This record gives sequence, C-alpha cells and structure tokens, in this order.
Amino acid sequence: MNVLVTGGAGYIGSAAVKMLIEDGYTVTIIDNMSKGQERLIHQEAEFHKIDLTDKETLKSVFNKKYDAIIHFAGYKAAGESMRNAPKYSQNIVGTINLLDCMVENKVPKIIFSSSAAVYGEPERGTIDENHPTVPVNYYGFGKLACEQIIEWYAKIHAINFVNLRYFNVIGDVGLQYKDPAPENILPIIDQVINGEREHLTIFGDDYPTRDGTCIRDYIELRDLVYAHILALQLNSSEIINLGTGTGMTVLELIKKIETERNVTIPYKIGQRRPGDPAALKASNEKAKKMLHWSPQ
Ligand SMILES: NC(=O)c1ccc[n+]([C@@H]2O[C@H](COP(=O)([O-])OP(=O)(O)OC[C@H]3O[C@@H](n4cnc5c(N)ncnc54)[C@H](O)[C@@H]3O)[C@@H](O)[C@H]2O)c1
Repeated sequence: MNVLVTGGAGYIGSAAVKMLIEDGYTVTIIDNMSKGQERLIHQEAEFHKIDLTDKETLKSVFNKKYDAIIHFAGYKAAGESMRNAPKYSQNIVGTINLLDCMVENKVPKIIFSSSAAVYGEPERGTIDENHPTVPVNYYGFGKLACEQIIEWYAKIHAINFVNLRYFNVIGDVGLQYKDPAPENILPIIDQVINGEREHLTIFGDDYPTRDGTCIRDYIELRDLVYAHILALQLNSSEIINLGTGTGMTVLELIKKIETERNVTIPYKIGQRRPGDPAALKASNEKAKKMLHWSPQ
C-alpha cells in the first residue's frame, strides 16, 4: 500500500513513517522542514522538501498512485496562533491544496491530524465527538475549518476521510525526538530536567479544577500512531477522538514525573494564556468501537 505522509519529518509524522514502514507500507514524505528534522527522515521513504502552500510543486509529488494520505503537516502552537494568524492560515491553505491534488489524482482516502482544540471550552467533563465545536484559539478554528473542508470534499468527490482529534500527545517510539523550540509541556519539562531551562511556567493556577491548574488528557505516541494504521483499514468516513479518557492536572503531571524519574522540577505560576480551556478529557468510546483500538 502506497501512503503519502505530510509532515513526516516532524514529531508524530516521523513516528508514523517508522511504524508504517515496519508494517510493510511504502511511504512518500512531504515536509517543508520548518520544524522537521533531517535525521528523522526515514531512509526507506521517498522524501520531498515541499511547502503545502506551494501548489505547483506539490502537484509533482502526485506523479505516482497513492492509496491514502496521512496529513500531519501543520503549525501546532495554539498560543502562537493568537499572535500570528497568517502563519496558521497556511494550515488551511495547505490542506485545500492537498485535497485538490487528491481529487485530481483520485486518491481515495485521507487521514487528518485534527485536535481537541476544535472543542474549545468543554461543556462536560468528558468530551465525545458530538460535543459542540467552539474553538477558543485560531489554531483550533483552523483545524475545524480543515475538517469541514475535508467533509465537503468527501461529499462532493466521494473521498473517504478519518478526522482524528488528538488530545495531548506524549512519548517517543525510539527516535529520541527532541523539539528544539518546544511549546508543549512534556518537552519543556525535559529541558528543565536537563538544565536547559531554569523552571517550568504553569500558565494559571486559578482554573476551576482540583488544584487550579489545567487538566489535559495525555496520549502515548505509539498508541496514537497505531490508531492511524487502523484508520487506513476503515471503510467509512468518521470523526474520532484519540485520548486515554483520563485527565491529569499540570501539577499532578509534574508530581508524577518527579516521582517516576526521581527528580525535582522547579516551576513558577504565570498568567493564564488566552485561549486555554480549563479541562480537556476525551471519550474514546468511538475509537474503541470503530477502530477496535484502545490505548496500551
Ligand atoms: N503534538 C500534539 O500534541 C498534537 C496534538 C493535536 C494535534 N496535533 C497535530 O498533529 C500534527 C503533527 O504534530 P507534531 O506534534 O508532529 O508537530 P511537528 O511540528 O513536529 O510536525 C509537523 C511537521 O509539519 C511540517 N510542516 C508544517 N507546515 C508545513 C507546510 N505548510 N508544508 C509542509 N510541511 C509543513 C513541519 O516542518 C513539521 O515537520 C499537526 O498537524 C498538529 O497540529 C498535534
């Protein structure tokens, strides 16, 4: 099976390429290398350094038949999206270009990296796929816009899609991924532990949660990628959450890592970030039912 992976030199994309190749898939990667890393590009994959907003160059990658596209490429920092909207608009433009190429070249299936950010401020403790989608940051709006455009293309052109809404992804699949400019909590904690940062800043401790810090649902990278491999086999078009179904506050996460790694993680309490919901926790019932998946 021939799979085109966008963002395949990034954190999740490179893990997916590794697992796909181990499973016998033939992989072509597109990445603009804005955050991708040379050493993460799999030796057995065909690689194209292309920005998805460059439609003319993108077309050249469709000189062969693909059975599916897994679309990871995109900028992903919710905070940054509230300071630099034009950068995050590129996520939408790139997705439209990719869909146009799909239609022109009759690629039957797309699996899209969406995010829990599409839900915005949760109305209930556990979020299922029917929860209202009211994003509170431009990144989340962009993911929702991409999902809806994919759904329209699917209606019009008979494409099959799986929009996967990830919660917070953590862990490694043996690639020792290191984010050079992390905006996510785990790699920032790693920097603090390694002495590359003095402390962790917790953005707000006055949220309506058990200890005042934000609750997130942390899903392991290997589990997350495996769901994509299962989604390649799905015949229907679906929107599916990927999370563990359990939530942890930032302070609980810090304590857990301190205990497990026998370290101290210095932290300071900072201001809330605009667009940060108090709690995000997935219902993963649909993933279990449709993909026969459960986090290990
Ligand atoms: N990491 C998470 O916790 C998380 C949570 C929810 C959703 N997601 C989504 O998953 C996807 C992958 O995330 P990641 O953590 O691997 O991020 P990442 O930044 O490590 O990987 C994204 C890759 O896409 C490439 N890219 C960005 N814009 C591009 C463009 N216009 N054209 C071509 N390549 C481009 C980057 O160079 C990078 O290699 C993203 O779409 C992200 O929004 C991630």
